[in-house]
Amino acid sequence: MDTINRITVLGSGIMGHGIAQVSAMAGYEVVIRDIQQSFLDKAMEKIKWSVNKLVEKKKIDQNEAERILNRIHPIVDIDQALKNSQLVIEAVPEDLNLKKKVYEELDRYTNEDVIFASNTSTLPISEISSFTSRPNKTIGLHFFNPPQLMQLVEIIPGKQTKQEIIDIAINFINKVGKTPILCKKDVPGFIVNRIFIPLVHEACYSLERSDVSLVELDSASKYKMYLPMGIFELADYTGLDVIHKATTEMHSRDKKVIFPHPKIQELYDKKEYGQKTGKGFYQYQGDNYERVQLTEELAKKFDPIALVSVAVNNACWLLSNNVCDKEDLEKALKLGMGLKKELFQTAEIFGIGNIINTLKDLQSKFGVFYEPDQYLLMLNK
Ligand SMILES: NC(=O)c1ccc[n+]([C@@H]2O[C@H](COP(=O)([O-])OP(=O)(O)OC[C@H]3O[C@@H](n4cnc5c(N)ncnc54)[C@H](O)[C@@H]3O)[C@@H](O)[C@H]2O)c1
Repeated sequence: MDTINRITVLGSGIMGHGIAQVSAMAGYEVVIRDIQQSFLDKAMEKIKWSVNKLVEKKKIDQNEAERILNRIHPIVDIDQALKNSQLVIEAVPEDLNLKKKVYEELDRYTNEDVIFASNTSTLPISEISSFTSRPNKTIGLHFFNPPQLMQLVEIIPGKQTKQEIIDIAINFINKVGKTPILCKKDVPGFIVNRIFIPLVHEACYSLERSDVSLVELDSASKYKMYLPMGIFELADYTGLDVIHKATTEMHSRDKKVIFPHPKIQELYDKKEYGQKTGKGFYQYQGDNYERVQLTEELAKKFDPIALVSVAVNNACWLLSNNVCDKEDLEKALKLGMGLKKELFQTAEIFGIGNIINTLKDLQSKFGVFYEPDQYLLMLNK
């Protein structure tokens, strides 16, 4: 059934070049396509650097490195780029109008058997599918940044995607050595962003509503919520531009999914995107990634129950709407957000009853966003 041996990656930016690399490492012939040769040259340089690192670390030998690089073909010409590929992975900028143009073009240049996969983080797969003549062969393959390192790939079928295409996608992701998690419904934010993005906003509200400092709250989120770093540190690392974009897209589709805090808009407007611009919630010096000094001592100053409550409530929403099961949810949060403890174990530590009371209290003050989900209420029975 799985006849994929050649794939085309559209877009050679942050995500595209990484997806091309991991696919070539798994043995696929890969064409990488962009609109200018200079973009492809840059992407190939980055791939070479990354593959050479693997040689230096003795993860692969020089011969294997050469074989990987020989499997990647940078091509600008659209017709040539799509020739003989069975799967196209689209990683062009997150702009629905641009994607529409790209898919309409793709449709013209590929035969009807070719599968289309979008790496979109926030746009609905069903809407993207509607730009093509083959919505039943279009699917979301949401790799995380950077694809070379991040283990998770969310697989999102659109309303019309055939089961056979879902199976092929799962098989492909397994072959590239990643962990596929099926997001059974095409909901805003899919699985991980549905929890992560609202959490960043909630952290801004918590900071505003309490009298703790940024590092105290951040330390508490790291040490009491078991995030890999503080939530503000993680936001700076992800990029406030990425978070802002996800916020806008998610909120435009579902007002209840997120309770936007103006701080995100403010940082975005000031172009303070975090680590990559030297300033976000924190200030950074130099090009190298710096860790913020967060400690367990500082963590004692703040109880992050509101943060835990919002994350758990959104997780419950995903479960009660049958977007994924609990096991897949925990796996996705571990691999996509780096959670060091299962979210529902953290929920038990804080107490389901306490979480429900916190949400009810917040709902009475700030509105429907905090309304406890049915699944959460059931857990308390
Ligand atoms: N950056 C992230 O953290 C991240 C994570 C997961 C998913 N995504 C998603 O991946 C996609 C790509 O994001 P990115 O961050 O890699 O963007 P990017 O801006 O780094 O790269 C996009 C590339 O696409 C090229 N492009 C534009 N039009 C094209 C066309 N018609 N054909 C081929 N290439 C074209 C651009 O020249 C650019 O090189 C988006 O849908 C985004 O939401 C991004």
